[in-house]
Amino acid sequence: MELLEKLNWRYAAKAMNGEKVAEDKIERILEAARLAPTSSGLQPFEIIVIKNQEIKEQIKPVAWNQSVITDCSHLLVFAAWDTYTADRINYMFDLTNDIRGFKNEGWENYRQMLLNAYPQKDAEENFNHAAKQAYIAFSQAIAAAAFEGVDATPLEGFDPAAVDKILSLREKGLRSAVLLPIGYRNADEDWLVDLVKVRKPMEDLVTVIE
Ligand SMILES: Cc1cc2nc3c(=O)[nH]c(=O)nc-3n(C[C@H](O)[C@H](O)[C@H](O)COP(=O)(O)O)c2cc1C
Repeated sequence: MELLEKLNWRYAAKAMNGEKVAEDKIERILEAARLAPTSSGLQPFEIIVIKNQEIKEQIKPVAWNQSVITDCSHLLVFAAWDTYTADRINYMFDLTNDIRGFKNEGWENYRQMLLNAYPQKDAEENFNHAAKQAYIAFSQAIAAAAFEGVDATPLEGFDPAAVDKILSLREKGLRSAVLLPIGYRNADEDWLVDLVKVRKPMEDLVTVIE
């Protein structure tokens, strides 16, 4: 199946059937998220994969009681850095040097530029920037899930502070940004499953400047 066919197949399932998704599929979905591009390559987020049913039960009431939270197979929590710190920036630059096996002056200058710019900024502003990066990975995970024939419901309808508390994210310098329950649709219970996908026409989306 072509990518666009898969993206047409996917939808934000409102009901899932509890069936488990094979771990190799989950690994490929997570790998797609790991491969997402991010600003300066900082990957300023982590992904918490919740398989534990009790934790899912705790999250459901703080996520508008959406049934997919507990009826999914794996609940992914995209948690962004609460701010940019020198340690976090240095970690990614050092990792790059380690993996590539050389240091580059331009790259080191760029490191200094970020060190001089980011850590001093307001933590909220930094978190918002980090959360944007998390959304890029989130989007790739959604597309990868479709590619695997697995349903994924993008989910912003939750209380981030409550989820942070349940998962002790603030202690780790993280804040929940967005959730992605992954599983299989329950077509018999889902009012949305047979409805036509609605997207605005291309001409309302794209402006071409020749
Ligand atoms: C960031 C984001 C947050 C969303 N939050 C929710 C949510 O909390 N609950 C829900 O049922 N759908 C949620 N959706 C699903 C959207 O309503 C859905 O993607 C959109 O209407 C397009 O429909 P489709 O994904 O079925 O093609 C969310 C989607 C995105 C991208």
